[in-house]
Amino acid sequence: MDARVTAHARYSIGEIDKRLYGSFLEHLGRAVYTGIYEPEHPTALPNGMRRDVIDLVRELDTPVCRYPGGNFVSAYNWEDGIGPKGNRPTRLDLAWRTSESNQVGVHEFAEWADAAGTDMMLAVNLGSRGLDEARNFVEYVNHPGGSQWSDLRRKNGRADPWDVKLWCLGNEMDGPWQVGHKSAHEYGHLANETAKALRAFDDKLELVVCGSSHSEMATYPQWEATVLEETYDQVDYISLHMYFENYEKNTAEYLALPEKLDRYIGTVGGVIDFVKSKKRSKRDVKISFDEWNVWYHERKSDAKRMKEWDWPHAPVLLEDIYNFEDVLQVGCILNTFIRRSDRVRIACIAQLVNVIAPIMTEPGGAAWRQTIYHPFHLASRHGRGTALQLDVDCKSYTSGVADDVSYLDIAGTHDADAGTLTFFAINRHGQEHMDIALAVERFGSVKSVEHTLIKHDDLEARNTKENPDNVKPHQTNDATLEGNTVRLSVPPYSYSMIRITL
Ligand code: AHR
Repeated sequence: MDARVTAHARYSIGEIDKRLYGSFLEHLGRAVYTGIYEPEHPTALPNGMRRDVIDLVRELDTPVCRYPGGNFVSAYNWEDGIGPKGNRPTRLDLAWRTSESNQVGVHEFAEWADAAGTDMMLAVNLGSRGLDEARNFVEYVNHPGGSQWSDLRRKNGRADPWDVKLWCLGNEMDGPWQVGHKSAHEYGHLANETAKALRAFDDKLELVVCGSSHSEMATYPQWEATVLEETYDQVDYISLHMYFENYEKNTAEYLALPEKLDRYIGTVGGVIDFVKSKKRSKRDVKISFDEWNVWYHERKSDAKRMKEWDWPHAPVLLEDIYNFEDVLQVGCILNTFIRRSDRVRIACIAQLVNVIAPIMTEPGGAAWRQTIYHPFHLASRHGRGTALQLDVDCKSYTSGVADDVSYLDIAGTHDADAGTLTFFAINRHGQEHMDIALAVERFGSVKSVEHTLIKHDDLEARNTKENPDNVKPHQTNDATLEGNTVRLSVPPYSYSMIRITL
């Protein structure tokens, strides 16, 4: 099959916010305990954080990390996680039916984030608590001193404020599963009043209001309209979440799901514009896609196990083991975010360690990269700069979620500082090679081209502790240059990064 792609210097989508490659850590399963924190681990730092995991997170280069939840945050008391560790209470976490020892709280997370080279994105509890807890938490984290909460932080060992800019006003408040779930009006009102109080403290904060938990919610997209009508003047982002499933084991249908993601972003973008016009506002609210990933491998069995267990601490939970097929999916999802980067400014892979995550750990033992680590790593490292509006000409197929799904999924970025053009291309055809002609117009002359390929003959191939490099990128020498046109042939069901030096 042939595919023709043209990138032209005059056709761009906009600047990519580096936080498009954000991540998420929740107090859930082994994400925190034996994930990032394990004082007895051979690589543990004096503060108990695993050095081997920090190294992998640094390599991943995720500029922001959302914390501490997720569903967990909706019944969380942030004060339980501060002060001497011996005095911290063990609480029952109602979201995941586990025990929370509170040995990691905001101080420990802040130290970890600093070591891992990522900024904090913190969530306040608007489920079981509200405005007062939120303003106290922000004062504790961001005020220099001379007030009750900031002085307590100083007493607890941290003199300087952390100055966290990005705050989530609760989590998935549209979901009946959420502790303290609310109607759109109730939540919108509370989020607006909370935002006003936080802005009274610091009007430079960036605030994220909850949109829909997914696009199949019965309240979607009216939820977004109602919540934004309540909050439009006070918030900067509306949060969306989506998880991808392949229970039917139908690869073509599975890889078409990013079309649904694209539609979801487009619809919510329309709702934002509708409310903006209604309010006669100049303000631009953007999308924070702060939970996304493949999540289905262990989902049903986990739900069953959870019902039966007796409040364990840091159990194995949501530990999906990803395969090569998921590499293709994660590549298509990231491409959708790049193509929609005019609307989507922040996106967080959910999650980061052990729990539906690119990084896995063994208690007391190894840490390794899951298959999906690789497309995220390549995009996070190289998908920066300006997103390009590409002209793509390729055969397409019809699926349950959309007609006209192009066999070639491709996104491109121009990093003017580095003098590079980078393209991420997924061949969604299962049998045919794809001969790609990629013309780059008016960027200056092309000096060289590199092709990095991720391919495995088995869609089910996984990375394990014993075989951590089963699925990984390989450098090839097969891309050729004819003037300003790059030619290459990519195999069926494959992921490619094509990097051009100008
Ligand atoms: O990431 C797992 C869970 O998925 C989060 O806690 C919640 O926000 C979402 O439903």
